[in-house]
Amino acid sequence: MCGIVAYVGPRDAYPILMKGLHRLEYRGYDSAGICLLNHDIRVFKCKGKVSDLEEYLVGKDISGTIGMAHTRWATHGEPNQINAHPHFSQNKKVAIIHNGIIENYSVLRSELKKRGFHFTSETDTEVLVHLIEDIMTNEKVPVEEAVRIALNQVVGAYAIVILAKDYPDKIIAARKGSPMVIGIGKDEFFVASDATPLVEYTDNVVYMNDEEIAIIERKAKLKIKTIRNKDHTPYIQKLVMSLNEIEKGGFDHFMLKEIYEQPRSIRDSMRGRLHIDQGIVTLGGIQNYEQKLINAKRIIITACGTSWHAGLVGGYLIEDLARIPVEVEYSSEFRYRNPVISEEDVILAISQSGETADTLAAIELGKAKGATVLGICNVVGSSIARATHGGVYTHAGPEIGVASTKAFTAQVAVLTLLSLLLAEKKGTIPKSQFQKILLALNAIPEKVDRILKMSEKIRDIANIYKDVKNSIYLGRGYNFPVALEGALKLKEISYIHAEGYPAAEMKHGPIALIDEHMPVVFIATRRGIYNKVISNIEEVKARKGKIIAIVTEGDETVKKLADHYIEIPDTEEILVPLLATIPLQLLSYYIAVMRGCNVDQPRNLAKSVTVE
Ligand code: F6R
Repeated sequence: MCGIVAYVGPRDAYPILMKGLHRLEYRGYDSAGICLLNHDIRVFKCKGKVSDLEEYLVGKDISGTIGMAHTRWATHGEPNQINAHPHFSQNKKVAIIHNGIIENYSVLRSELKKRGFHFTSETDTEVLVHLIEDIMTNEKVPVEEAVRIALNQVVGAYAIVILAKDYPDKIIAARKGSPMVIGIGKDEFFVASDATPLVEYTDNVVYMNDEEIAIIERKAKLKIKTIRNKDHTPYIQKLVMSLNEIEKGGFDHFMLKEIYEQPRSIRDSMRGRLHIDQGIVTLGGIQNYEQKLINAKRIIITACGTSWHAGLVGGYLIEDLARIPVEVEYSSEFRYRNPVISEEDVILAISQSGETADTLAAIELGKAKGATVLGICNVVGSSIARATHGGVYTHAGPEIGVASTKAFTAQVAVLTLLSLLLAEKKGTIPKSQFQKILLALNAIPEKVDRILKMSEKIRDIANIYKDVKNSIYLGRGYNFPVALEGALKLKEISYIHAEGYPAAEMKHGPIALIDEHMPVVFIATRRGIYNKVISNIEEVKARKGKIIAIVTEGDETVKKLADHYIEIPDTEEILVPLLATIPLQLLSYYIAVMRGCNVDQPRNLAKSVTVE
């Protein structure tokens, strides 16, 4: 939520900041703004996207070799120009950009008003910049010290960057609960919400920790201290990311590119872990916790959104193969409902971004109660990856489309490996079945590739249903989470109301919705609870619902019942989610494009949900 980028060095800041903002736009796109500093401190901002800001800046003075920029996902105050970042302090000598929420902003705001400060915006952020000015004026301290004192009064989450007119060579950055990375080049520094804005300039990065303040000075060394005034030595790491990974590479949208990357990303998520030649699975990141997992009384999976759907598949897999009880929890509910957690529990937190605020809070809760907490994350060095005791990276590569696609299949692939590893160690599946599944898993990327070749047919179906207002997605067993994920994909990018439901539950309510205008997507693959799903299809057909079915290659029964069908290759029942999800991603994508929706940046959404 909200993207931040800043630069100081010998180059013009403007092109670096704008390119950075475009890369970070997936984090929010309600408004955008920029601050440049040379003799003067100038702020330009407007409602809308980064391209609107670029247009707005034509003919304006955009010179300067130090600056910062922001793209906003609104929390406090509607998305308009006044509420856009950067925000100035009252004397217009200090400017701030912020990602996060200042929870005690109304108390601070009242106090500052009493001290004569006037507020122009409705944001929580403006409070912080006035507070910094107040401290600088009254306590006669330099800007970095004023920021430190101010942050001690703040309750909430923040990643901030501050520029001050009287400190024309200095960037102050700080974080708590919202991500921030610093890139170190030759005589230049970059600050950003993630590494995408700095990838072509440097591969030396420092991931800031909570409650750290970075003091970045032109031509000087980076200094980091805590808000309690303790010096920290910056831990410089090598960035593992390439420019290719974050560009569209000839596709119309990032989402489409990421859907098409899945044969590669699923393979990468298993590389060095699925050893077909030796017939074993290894997961280095959790090696030290294997015994803990094997002896766990219970595994709690916690996640949000699409990652929660992957968690549901994971729950089925772990119980099915490794016979360990699993509970799958929405992080946002789990953290507030006083759950019973013991030291014998293992919590698995799943997150693409590794920054989701509710999942982070669930992790902290689990740790406080003594549980072992492991992560399954995509973004290397993310907050969740660092907050957990151990974990497994999904290695899907950067996911930029706001709707999650390749991250989901990589999460499911990793959860499959984990379940197989535990099952093998516990001896809960016969060796022959274990080997059979390994071979089937190894063949998944090639089968995904075959499904992607059917895009033409999927596009034709999309064209028929692009104007519907409602839809239902039904599946049973391993295909129930697939139905939920298919429905989520459609609603979030095309704004068509879609409900995912367990197929058999339909007759307990949703069946009332079915008439000749209701498309019903059945995930009706042949393995698993097949015959019962056929009965459910008959029930919909009897009420004139339109049936789109995902079927196993060669299936004749469902094909005859369905109005439209998409065939996917056969595989083991437990692996079907890795295949059945793909045509549903494409179906949503084509429908959204045909409806003229912005698939990479759907309205009201942001990629990384760093607020509650
Ligand atoms: C949907 C989607 C979201 C995320 C959710 C969790 O396409 O992307 O539902 O899955 O916000 O995000 P992460 O996985 O980053 O914790």
